[in-house]
Order: sequence, then C-alpha cells, then structure tokens
Amino acid sequence: MCGIIGYVGNRPALPILVEGLRRLEYRGYDSAGVALIDQENLCVTKSAGRLSALEQVLDHSMPQTTGIGHTRWATHGPPTDVNAHPHTDTSGKIAVIHNGIIENDRALRTYLQRQGVTFKSETDTEVLAQLIAMFYEGDLEKAVRKALREVSGTYGIGVLCADEPNVIVAARKGSPLIIGVGKGEHLLASDAAAILAHTTQVIYVGDGEIAHITPDELRLTTLDAIPVAKDVQQIEWSLEQIELAGYDHFMLKEIFEQPEVLENCLRGRLDQNENAIRLGGLVDCTKKLTGAKRIILTGCGTAWHAALVGEYLFEELVRIPTEVEYASEFRYRNPVIDEGTALIAVSQSGETADTHAALIEAKQRGALTLGAVNVVGSTIARETDAGVYLHVGPEIGVASTKAFTGQVAVLAMIACFLGRRKHLSPCAAAEFIAALAAIPKQIKRILDTAEEARKVAQIYTDRENWLYLGRGYNYPVALEGALKLKEISYIHAEGLPAAEMKHGPIALIQEGMPVVVIATAGRQYDKIINNMMQVRSRGGSIIAIATEGDREIAKQADHVLYVPDTIEPLQPLLTVIPLQLIAYHAAVIRGCNVDKPRNLAKSVTVE
Ligand code: F6R
Repeated sequence: MCGIIGYVGNRPALPILVEGLRRLEYRGYDSAGVALIDQENLCVTKSAGRLSALEQVLDHSMPQTTGIGHTRWATHGPPTDVNAHPHTDTSGKIAVIHNGIIENDRALRTYLQRQGVTFKSETDTEVLAQLIAMFYEGDLEKAVRKALREVSGTYGIGVLCADEPNVIVAARKGSPLIIGVGKGEHLLASDAAAILAHTTQVIYVGDGEIAHITPDELRLTTLDAIPVAKDVQQIEWSLEQIELAGYDHFMLKEIFEQPEVLENCLRGRLDQNENAIRLGGLVDCTKKLTGAKRIILTGCGTAWHAALVGEYLFEELVRIPTEVEYASEFRYRNPVIDEGTALIAVSQSGETADTHAALIEAKQRGALTLGAVNVVGSTIARETDAGVYLHVGPEIGVASTKAFTGQVAVLAMIACFLGRRKHLSPCAAAEFIAALAAIPKQIKRILDTAEEARKVAQIYTDRENWLYLGRGYNYPVALEGALKLKEISYIHAEGLPAAEMKHGPIALIQEGMPVVVIATAGRQYDKIINNMMQVRSRGGSIIAIATEGDREIAKQADHVLYVPDTIEPLQPLLTVIPLQLIAYHAAVIRGCNVDKPRNLAKSVTVE
C-alpha cells in the first residue's frame, strides 16, 4: 500500500528513485511522483497511472542529489496527477510523501482553511504538508515534530524542504520505514526491495520516531526529541531474489519456487533422528505456550486461510482449543483474552495493519503473542514475544502463493513441536515429520505437470462464476483457490465447506458451471464424492483435485488434477498448488495483469 523511496548522497538521485519505485510498484500502482531538491529549488513531477507514465514526463538529466519518490494506492481522492504524491505546501517549499492514513485530516483541513490555506488535492497528505509549512521556522525537523503532534492516524513519511537541500526528515507510526546506510549516502524506503541494489545495511525506524538524514549523518529521536540509539542490521535477501529470473510474472516465479523455498523453511527444523521439531524462536516461551488454555490464530486474506489450516492442525496435534479470527474483526470486538491465551499472528509482510492491531490488542490484554511472519525485522515480527519466520524469500506477486505454503508449513511445525510436549507420540511425530520432509519434492512433481492445470483453465476462463469445495483440511484450500481466482482474473468465485453447498449455494449450480472439488484420499473421501455427484446431477462441470492412483474419481469428474499422496494434515500444501496454477493461467488467458491486479496492492498497511 504505497511505496516510499528517498535518497540523500552524492550521486544523482533521480535514477535511484525511479529504480526504487519500479521495485516498489507492487505496493501501489495508480500514480507516482518524485521531488528533487537543489540549491533551494524544489522540483516536483508526478503523474497518474503506472510508473511508466511518470517516466515519460520526467527530465531524466536532472542532476540533484537529494530526492523522494512515491508510488500510490489511493485512499483519499481518485488516482489523478493532482492527488499523486509528493504533496507540497502553498509556497512550494515543503514536499511530503506518505504511506498511511491521517485520521483527523478533515479537522486539520478545516483549521488550515480558516488560516487562509487553499488546498489543491483531496489528500490527507497535503494537509500534512501544509501543517509542516505552518510550523516551519527554519528547522524542518522541528516543524515535522510539531506537525506530527497534531496528527492522529498512521504514517510513514519522507519530507523535503527547499531551504535545507541535503536533508530528508522521515518519521513513522504504524507504516513501515527503513533507512539504508551507504558510503556518504542514505536511502529511505518503505520496503527493503527498493534499496537492495545499493545497500543491505539498514536501520529500522520505530513507531513514534523521527529521522534526520543527511549524506553523512543519521539522527534518530522520539517525537519528544529524546535521542534513540539503533544498531545497523543486515538484510538477508539478495537482489536476484527480487528479480523475475526469466519468468513472465512474479506470481509464476513464486509458484515454481515453492519446492526450494519450502526446503529453506524446513531446513534445520525437522529432526528425524529424534522425531522432534527444532524451533529456536520458541525456546524462551515453550513452557508458557504449552501451558496455554487457548490459542487464537489471526491474519487476513490468504494468511487467514493458512490460519484456518492451523486451527485443524492445532486441535488435532496439540489438543488445545484453537480459534481463528479475522484480525480486522477481532480488534474491535472486545475479545475475551487473558494470560492463558496465546495469539499467533500469521502474516507474510509482517506489516498488515489489521493483523498488527489485533496483535497489540491481545498483547495489551495479557496474551502471549507469537508471529508466523516472512519479512525479518517487520513490525509484527518485532512486536511479538516470540515467533517462527517462514524463510520463503521475498514475495513480490500481489497474489500470495509461496507465503501460503510457508505459513501452513510453519504452523504445521509449531503444531508438531507443541504436540510432542502434550500428547503426540514419538511414532506419530515421526510419521508427521517424514511426511513434512517429503513435501518440497512432492510439490515439484505437481509443478512438473503444470500444463494440465493450464489446459483446465483454458477450457473454463469464459465462465464468470466458479465454486470451490473442500472438506476438513481442504476446506481452507477451497477458500484460498477461490480467492486466488477472483483477485487476479476478476472471475467471481466462492469457496465453501463442501457439505454447506446443499444449504443454499447449490441453487447456483447450472449447466457448465465450473466446480473445483478437492477430493483427495482421507476420512471424508466418500462424503466428498457424494457432493460431487450432487453437483454433477445438476449439470456442473467438475474439476477434481485427487490423490495419485485414484482411478475411480475420473468417473465422477470432467477433469482430474492429481497430487501425490500425503497425510491428511499436510494435504493443503499440495492441493493448493493446482489451484494457484489454474488462477494464474485463467488470469493470463483473460489478459489480466497478474502481478498488478485491479484495485489491489501488496501489504495492506491501512485499515
Ligand atoms: C491474497 C493476499 C492477501 C494477503 C493479506 C495478508 O493473495 O495476498 O489476502 O494474504 O493481505 O497479508 P500479509 O500476509 O502480508 O499479512
């Protein structure tokens, strides 16, 4: 949700900003802009549309060595040139880029209008620019500090002032912000991907902190001007990991990376000699976690689907009552939480605003908080008491794929880790761990037959309504398959627990409607075959996901996509793969922009 980049150093800033914006485009892509500063002049260029539209109107020879850039996901006002960032004050001296939402912008706007300020845009960010200008008396940092005291809401900001040519002032509350440390230069970004080409040394700006950045100096203080000392940290991700590497889309690359990244996720954590799971991140809280009376798993979207799989895993392996909560609902519901509650926040980015807020809510009410997070050093990862990283590498595709399998794998490991400390026998743990260890190679086998999924997608992409059915562990996979299809191909799709179909949705089934049924071997196999027959007898076209070797299923289905056999709790790691592929190919065949789907952006840092 909006990408931020800034540069202050000795090199021309513009190419660095444009390259950073290109890497950030997955965070928002409805408009973009840059502001450069030199010899007391502020030069702002912005444009509605993709970054390529901005590039066409930029003067690429601009030599300035200080600048900020922004790629937008609109919240206040439509994506127009005027509403694009950076925003300036009336005098054109102050420029601001912002990720987040200023919640009291109406009141501030009215106040400033009464002071005679005229606004050009509908954005909350312009309010901030005007407010900073009102407080400016020759010291940008002081003016930003004063302005932020008046503001409620969330922000990650970068501010320039024409009178202070080698300075960027940045601040954050609730929106991610990092500072890259180079030789005689500093970079500012909302996301490591934007600055990886220049440095892997970073400082994470904390909530309520302000950074004063020049080429040679970086000063961090709190909003109350108390100095903050921070260590420089190393980003583990490499530049190659955030490039397409010959694939047409990041989503496809990330689908195909799953065997390798799941190996990374499992590496060093499965001890097949001792039938044990080793999770260093849980060592300090093992006793408290094992003693929990109740576990709450929370997240949004795909992460929420992974959490649902987690619920089944925890109840089966750990036998601690487990619930799954939409993070956005949980925080506003006055939930019953006490010290016997453990909350696990599931998140790829570690920056999702709703998930973060749910975590804070649980923490304040005394729960033990854990994270199953991908991005190292992200807000959620830093604010939980303990956690387990996914280690699946950067996910750039807006539609989450490898993060889902990483989240399920991590939850499976946590479940087995806790299960062994409760009632899970060494023998059952051994079977579980061996099955988990086999998953990466099994995913590879599914990917080797990816063409089958493409063929199925080809047949049905003209249908505007799809159903996805699953039972047990595969019910969340049905939800995930439907979400994947709708978010990138704009086909309407609904996921359901298969037995629920007869309680209403069955009315939707008509001749030729595609119904994807996850019908792998397991306790509910016969029941799901019955559900398939109900669909068939009403003319629905069945695409079954079945276990290799199941010859019977072809009699009930129009198409069968096979996955290797595994134990039921781990089936989601395999059954989701053909569904990711169907969604991808359906979107490509329909001519949709897979990596930049309509109205979406990666990492939802606003409520
Ligand atoms: C769907 C998707 C979203 C995210 C959700 C949570 O493909 O990507 O539904 O899963 O916004 O994001 P994280 O995991 O970053 O908290």
